[in-house]
Amino acid sequence: MKLAILVSGTGSLLEAMIKDGLPIALVLADRKCRGLDVAKNAGIPALLVARKDFRTDGAFDRDAYTKKVVEELQSRGIELVAMAGFMTVFSKPMFGAYDGRILNTHPSLLPEYKGEQAVADALAAGAKETGCTIHVATLKLDDGHILAQEKVRVSPNDTVETLWERIKQKERRLYPQVIRDFEKRLSKS
Ligand code: GRF
Repeated sequence: MKLAILVSGTGSLLEAMIKDGLPIALVLADRKCRGLDVAKNAGIPALLVARKDFRTDGAFDRDAYTKKVVEELQSRGIELVAMAGFMTVFSKPMFGAYDGRILNTHPSLLPEYKGEQAVADALAAGAKETGCTIHVATLKLDDGHILAQEKVRVSPNDTVETLWERIKQKERRLYPQVIRDFEKRLSKS
């Protein structure tokens, strides 16, 4: 199954997938980031579709951006998409083209702490535990069928960085496995 990984940041989850031996057909990023270099260094086709190039009257044209990404994925025969720290929210055309075939990992125990500040929000709320959630992505942000979750204890000395790193350690182990299982289920159906 032709798999694309979508990144925006350091790409440490992508590195874990590569280490795991997960076959990756394409890495796509919405901005210049270390994730793209990780792909290139591993010999994986790496594509930048920069969101900064999709501005109409000073505003981000989400539909035009989404359509461009869908076009790039489909022209390469991509069948499954996994977001790994991808920071652009797609509009409808993505879910029309890849409905039920877009996965995401989020650094909280969904439905708690949705959105970009999930780790900071858990800390600010004084949560005793948080974690990660791997789920099927839908048009609704950080929603969709949950495939796996793992808990992480919050320690009194945690900062966003220390807590997020421990969450990522779980994600690096869990996400490749969930993708493999999901691929198997898809190819049987
Ligand atoms: C992960 O914690 C993921 O849940 C969140 O972004 C982080 C990606 O980390 N959406 P990295 O860029 O792979 O290090």
